[in-house]
Amino acid sequence: MKSLFAKKLIVANWKLYIKTQAEAKALYKSCVVVASQLKRTEMVLAVPFVFVSHMVKRKNMHVGAQDVSWAVEGAYTGEVSARMLASVGVTHVIAGHSERRDLAGDTDEQVAQKVKAALGVGLWVILCVGERERATDGSSLVVVKRELLASLKGVSRMLAGHLIIAYEPIWAISAHHPKSVDTPESTLEMAIYIRKILHDLYGKATASRIRVLYGGSVAPENIRGFLERGGVDGALVGHASASAGKFTRILHETEMSYSQDV
Ligand code: 13P
Repeated sequence: MKSLFAKKLIVANWKLYIKTQAEAKALYKSCVVVASQLKRTEMVLAVPFVFVSHMVKRKNMHVGAQDVSWAVEGAYTGEVSARMLASVGVTHVIAGHSERRDLAGDTDEQVAQKVKAALGVGLWVILCVGERERATDGSSLVVVKRELLASLKGVSRMLAGHLIIAYEPIWAISAHHPKSVDTPESTLEMAIYIRKILHDLYGKATASRIRVLYGGSVAPENIRGFLERGGVDGALVGHASASAGKFTRILHETEMSYSQDV
């Protein structure tokens, strides 16, 4: 499936891997160097909140956060709002990551509120969906559809143009064995299915503006398979994005990838 987008999107999700401000700055600098060389790829650095204001938007590089509050303002100790993030230069936020659902207990309703809060101030939302267990009986399609519909509840067609959907099968996240990673072939099936749901929800024009990404143990060795045969417009990268060397290789592999017409 040929990507409709001129540039592939690679999102770095630093999670809790980067330990200090000095480490964050060093990794950012190496990403700046690569970003300036990219022609067919752009990246988002989704960094911990404390590092956000050390990141500056560059050509082919956008600043992202890993979460956002569902609350707009008020007595919510510890929360960080969409407006605060936008005011320090953030343009992209991740919502509904399985680790937030597990660690912070984010419900589908809260995820939908986060999506609306972020889209409402003009941010791009990288909405994560994905089944918990590997399945061959089609049940993952049911899970993903349910999650998508619940997380997009109340999101209007007008706002939906700023959505990015990340398909992240939870069982493939942080996999230590290559066999535990999803295959481009099953990602393709899911990507087509996600696009159909978006088409049904928002119509062709809007759905065609929504990128679909794959996430789950993306590495320099497997990124091209997903981009070339997985029907996706980019990737959401966790562990490998915390290594300057691996992330640079992922970006270079992305530059060299092509997408097939299927
Ligand atoms: P890994 O690339 O470490 O498997 O993480 C995937 C992920 O959760 C990205 O959001």
